[in-house]
Amino acid sequence: MMVREDLSGILVLDLFGEARIATRPKVPVPVYGERIVDGLRIWDPHRSKLAALLNKSLLAGGLAGFVRDLNLSPGSAVLYLGAATGTTASHVSDLVPDGLVYAVELSPRAIRDLLGLCQGRDNIVPIIEDAFHPERYAPLLEPVDLVYQDLAQRNQAEIANLNVGRYLKPGGALVLMIKARSVDVTADPKEVAKGEVARLEGVEVVSVTDLRPYHQDHWAVVARKRSEVP
Ligand SMILES: C[S@@+](CC[C@H](N)C(=O)[O-])C[C@H]1O[C@@H](n2cnc3c(N)ncnc32)[C@H](O)[C@@H]1O
Repeated sequence: MMVREDLSGILVLDLFGEARIATRPKVPVPVYGERIVDGLRIWDPHRSKLAALLNKSLLAGGLAGFVRDLNLSPGSAVLYLGAATGTTASHVSDLVPDGLVYAVELSPRAIRDLLGLCQGRDNIVPIIEDAFHPERYAPLLEPVDLVYQDLAQRNQAEIANLNVGRYLKPGGALVLMIKARSVDVTADPKEVAKGEVARLEGVEVVSVTDLRPYHQDHWAVVARKRSEVP
């Protein structure tokens, strides 16, 4: 195994001739059954839409640019909406070892596993709340460098707007995973994704990526929050 590149903690490994994305945890313990190689956690693109986006960027030759757009550093703060049991949130936590991941999740079942994950990590703040009501977690939050949203919900753009408006620093990044079938099961998924992108407010869209072959009918939107007009 060889580390080909280290892009702000997003590692590109050469694993038996194949390029794989990985992160470096403080403690090398698997979270969702992922492989650990020489203390590094292999990030599975079939299990995580963010890993799918990273792999697609890598294959397209644009990984360094994408990582620059994310603008993460070890001390960054991330608001993660829809953390579920922590599969992707655990890798994001590896990327910000001196920062914090505010992990919002509504399902009590998922939260149970997420709390287990938090016991072994000191930089995830679990928040049992509805991301549609960001005012409810205001006492727990600081302005963040990245809003990452992965919710199977009808009003995905509206939820992103509410959270970006309130918590994302100007110039900060939004990564929005759009599940077209959650918005409208009957419409053309591509048109649904376009409609959600058009509904985003206060951001400049940097890229929209179809996550096939890893995830069907899912699009990843990367956007940057506009600086406030004086
Ligand atoms: C697709 S899963 C997230 C998977 C996760 N991001 C990962 O990659 O490991 C979507 C999650 O969003 C949660 N969710 C849906 N609506 C929500 C809301 N309004 N507020 C908070 N969480 C919500 C669901 O309970 C579910 O766990």
